[in-house]
Amino acid sequence: MQHTENEAHRLDAADPGHRHLFHVPPAEGGRYPEVAYLAGNSLGLQPRATRDELLADLDAWRRLGVEGHVEAERPWLPYHELLTAPAARLVGALPAETVVMNSLTVNLHLLMVSFYRPAGERTRIVIEDSAFPSDSYAVRSQARFHGLDPDATVVRLKPRPGEDTLRTSDVLDFLAAEGHTVALVLLGGVNYLTGELMDIPAITAAGRAAGAVVGWDLAHAAGNVPLALHDWDVDFAAWCSYKYLNSGPGALAGVFVHERHLGDPRLPRFEGWWSTEAATRFEMTPVSRPPATVEAWQISNPPIFAMGPVRTSLELFDSVGMPALRERSLRLTGWLERLLDEVTVGRPLTVVTPRDPARRGCQLSVRIGVSARSEPGLRAPQSRTEWSMVGSANELTKRLRHEHGVIADAREPDIVRFAPVPLYSTYHDCWRVADALAAAVEVDR
Ligand SMILES: Cc1ncc(COP(=O)(O)O)c(C=O)c1O
Repeated sequence: MQHTENEAHRLDAADPGHRHLFHVPPAEGGRYPEVAYLAGNSLGLQPRATRDELLADLDAWRRLGVEGHVEAERPWLPYHELLTAPAARLVGALPAETVVMNSLTVNLHLLMVSFYRPAGERTRIVIEDSAFPSDSYAVRSQARFHGLDPDATVVRLKPRPGEDTLRTSDVLDFLAAEGHTVALVLLGGVNYLTGELMDIPAITAAGRAAGAVVGWDLAHAAGNVPLALHDWDVDFAAWCSYKYLNSGPGALAGVFVHERHLGDPRLPRFEGWWSTEAATRFEMTPVSRPPATVEAWQISNPPIFAMGPVRTSLELFDSVGMPALRERSLRLTGWLERLLDEVTVGRPLTVVTPRDPARRGCQLSVRIGVSARSEPGLRAPQSRTEWSMVGSANELTKRLRHEHGVIADAREPDIVRFAPVPLYSTYHDCWRVADALAAAVEVDR
């Protein structure tokens, strides 16, 4: 390759990141002791600090039993409050607008209980055609819950024929033309498949101007790109913490509800004892007194041992800062893009993520196949030659892992996603991706 391994090492020396704060798994294949981990968009690596912090919480339970609710070093009753301010800083929200609880799809449902209110001709829910399936199932089941036909209710916005990603203008044009029928716009801030970063402020403004509620699934955006949810006037948002937030598999998720909705007695909401204000919670009254904060959306007392990893991770984001991470992310992903440009030439591989750095986070998605996307759905390799040279996305990622120690992640049939994560990925990891692809995929002659 034109870009050499030494060049990667030089870049790493000049721009080292924070890899030393993480556990990087050993490699099972290839010639390097550690994996090149490019799957932080799926599951982030474990911060070194997490284990001790988690053990300290576990010790409090061993020593104190039930008294830990008030006497633990980090008392359990208000434990979730420790996560609120750093989570709010991460997504550009006020603390009153932010809470960490449950998991992502559960939170989307709880938010739709409040914010999906179909009425009259305004019943539709707008998602992207390549929405993560859980979101698609969630909105379809919400439509059914309201007695509506999901096929007629859920609008799936598709890229133009021959294009891989949505144009902002197409979303805006749709909302201008048909917004009067839309009750809810619920899009992914960064699309899980293509890595496209949507224009959150422009789409939010257009959706709200059309009279719809606008919510965002930020699973692939939180900790990946800078966010300003409050200033962008987003109605609500939810995100998970196991991808870029490195809080472990199935980690607790985050929720944002804009200040203008807080304390609104007209909003329906499902409640439990954690929805009532903390000061009178133990008066055990039959009727709740929800606070005028997003904590009113909480239901159960939170799992403390699941909160520790989120707290530890958010401290890390606070200490490094999103602006610095975004800067490094742009450098690292730009470098991976240059390497992929070199290695995809002549091979049946195409980067489908937008080339404009402002329209993406750190993830670059590579499609196995050479021509543009055709409808409906993603195009699978069309010729026998393409399949035999590369295999499916799963087959290719297995080869990358076992023969080269490169961990990427596959979305069948034909997308392989590579995410150089600015906290811990290196320029050398990116170089290993390109080197492994060059070896694993024959040049098309
Ligand atoms: C964009 C998006 N939405 C929703 C989910 C589902 O998340 P959960 O299983 O935490 O509800 C995922 C999981 O990867 C996702 O990427």
